[in-house]
Formats: sequence, structure tokens, C-alpha cells
Amino acid sequence: MVKKLPKNLYQDDVEGLDQEPAVRWEPIRRPVVRVKQEKKASYESNEEVQRWLKVQGVDLNQAPAFNPTFLSSQRDAPWILSSLTPLYEQKLIVDILHVVKSGKEATVFCCLAHPETGLDYLAVKVYRPRMFRSLKNDADYRYNRTQRDEQGRVVHGDNRLRGVARKTARGHAARVMSWIEYEFTTQRMLYQAGVHVPMPVAHVGNAVLMHYVGTVGHAAPLLRDVRLEPDEVSPLFDRLMADIELSLATRRVHGDLSEYNILYWERNVTIIDFAQAVDPCYDEVFPLFARDVQRVCQYFEQYGLHNDAQQLAAEMWTRHMGGHVEDIIL
Ligand SMILES: Nc1ncnc2c1ncn2[C@@H]1O[C@H](COP(=O)(O)OP(=O)(O)OP(=O)(O)O)[C@@H](O)[C@H]1O
Ligand SMILES: [Mg+2]
Repeated sequence: MVKKLPKNLYQDDVEGLDQEPAVRWEPIRRPVVRVKQEKKASYESNEEVQRWLKVQGVDLNQAPAFNPTFLSSQRDAPWILSSLTPLYEQKLIVDILHVVKSGKEATVFCCLAHPETGLDYLAVKVYRPRMFRSLKNDADYRYNRTQRDEQGRVVHGDNRLRGVARKTARGHAARVMSWIEYEFTTQRMLYQAGVHVPMPVAHVGNAVLMHYVGTVGHAAPLLRDVRLEPDEVSPLFDRLMADIELSLATRRVHGDLSEYNILYWERNVTIIDFAQAVDPCYDEVFPLFARDVQRVCQYFEQYGLHNDAQQLAAEMWTRHMGGHVEDIIL
């Protein structure tokens, strides 16, 4: 069989092919254009080559090690690679495609899912290394972020800094790991209960893998960045209220719900980011719950949807946690 290489492959690339190519080709007779490259990308990573190899039936799963081209331009490359290699080895992802968003604590990437997952793309949230360091300037972080114990109970006031373990690097890393685990467990519980959250797939170390909402290069926008059609307003509000109530029934309060943690895609909403979630059975959670409800109500005000957030929150709370609405709203 004689085949021509894809158009954009040059003589140089041809010489870089495996020793024993799957097919023979005719040399392409044209001048080799030498473009100055900072660092030559690996032959296997060329998109065109990958497609070509696939067509030839070359088993791409035989790739020896996880080495996404995308990472070559990333400052945090070694950290990201070590965080995501277990997901590659467990045949959950095959490539990292792009950054979705880099936040204070974590970066979210869009990954190509392994065919065995039955999914096309996955989002992975990777917590930053600084979260795991013994932080000298950690005070702000510690005071701003809700502290909780292994059961997810909020730890208040001076208790935050009590105990020698809390001040050590290992103690700090352990707490961070338990938050990440708690975030994943929460997402899984909510997903199983039918709340509209991205399907959680795996949690390995500092990475949480889940269903990706959007298309490659275009992750679903946040609710705050879209303009809803008039006929979407009421159904989406109802869906969010139902999700909030179902979460409460599942013993979870989001704790940081707003249009900044809700994705909008194809006329639907998906709640994300459970890093601040708490168990409503522990004390002082109602104000947090009421704030979640209030922020969602506030967002919908711009579309002319007016609701009494306190009343709504109190009604939901009493339905699931007991007590009386009149006692809650003073
Ligand atoms: N499953 C997903 N599919 C598509 N995009 C996602 C997904 N999960 C998160 N994102 C994107 O990544 C961003 C950050 O995710 P998330 O809110 O969980 O992290 P964060 O650390 O709280 O970041 P931030 O401080 O920016 O809120 C989101 O605002 C959203 O744009
Ligand atoms: Mg967020």
C-alpha cells in the first residue's frame, strides 16, 4: 500500500517517524521550510499525526508515558503531571486539552476522556501546590476559609488554630486532603440524589475528576455571564430551588452558592464547587443556607422574578430539619 502523508507534514517529520512504519509512503518533493522553533513538539503529539496513526490502526494506548504537549508551556508542569498521571494510568483520561479556569486555590482543565469511560471529555480540578505547603503566610487563608473536621463539621473560632498538628506541614496537608475528599464525597452524594451537578468520576490526591460541561475550547459559561431568554427564567429558578431543597434533604448545604458557582449550558443549569459545603445537622448552618437561597433569588430579580428568600429558606429548612418558620424568621 502506498500512501501520501497528510499535507502539513514535512520531510523532517517523516524522518522522525518510527523505525518500522506501518505503511510506506512516497517522499514529498518540495523544499523543506525551516521554521525556528523554541522547542520541537514531539512527533506523536502532532494532531495531524495522531489522526493519521489512528486511521492506520496504530494503537495509541500503547503510549509509554503520560506526556501531554499542552504541559510544555505550563509553569506548574511537574506538579500537574504528577497530579494527573494516576488518572491516566487508571485509564480515565488520555490527554489534557486546555485550561478552563485558573482560580485562587485550584485550576480546572479540560481533558480528553479515555474511551473506556464512555465519555468524551472530563473536567479535572487540581488544587495548587501552595495548598499543601507549610504556609508561613497562611493566616488569611485559614481565617477566610471555613475550617472543618473529618466529618465536615465546621470548626469555629479559636479551635481553628488549636492543636500542634494543625500548625505542622503534615497537619495542614492532611486538612487540605480531607477538604478535597469531602468535596468529592459531597458531589457524589448529590449526584446520586439527583441534584444537577457534574457527574463525579474519581478523586485521586489533589485532583477531582468530573463530567465536563461544554465543548472543547468552550466550557459552559457561568450563570452570571449569560442573558437568559424570558421563557427560561422561571423554569431555571424552580430547578435551582428544587436542587437546593434536594441537597438539604441529602444533608448538604452548598455554602457558597451564587451565579458564580452555577454553569449554564443548553438551557440548563449545573451547580459546581462544593469546597465550602457543610452538613446542616451541625450548628449555625441555617444562615449559610439562607444566604445560598438569597443569592439565587437576588440573581433572578433582574428578570423580574421577586421572591421572599428568607421565607423560602425557612420553609425548606423546616420541611427537612424540623422547627417552625416563625421561630426561624425573627
Ligand atoms: N465540570 C465542569 N465543566 C466545565 N467547567 C467547569 C467545571 N467545573 C468547573 N468549571 C469551571 O472552572 C471554574 C472553577 O471551578 P470551581 O468553581 O470549582 O473552582 P474554584 O477554586 O472555586 O474557582 P473560583 O475561585 O474561580 O470559583 C468554574 O468557575 C467553571 O468556569
Ligand atoms: Mg467556584
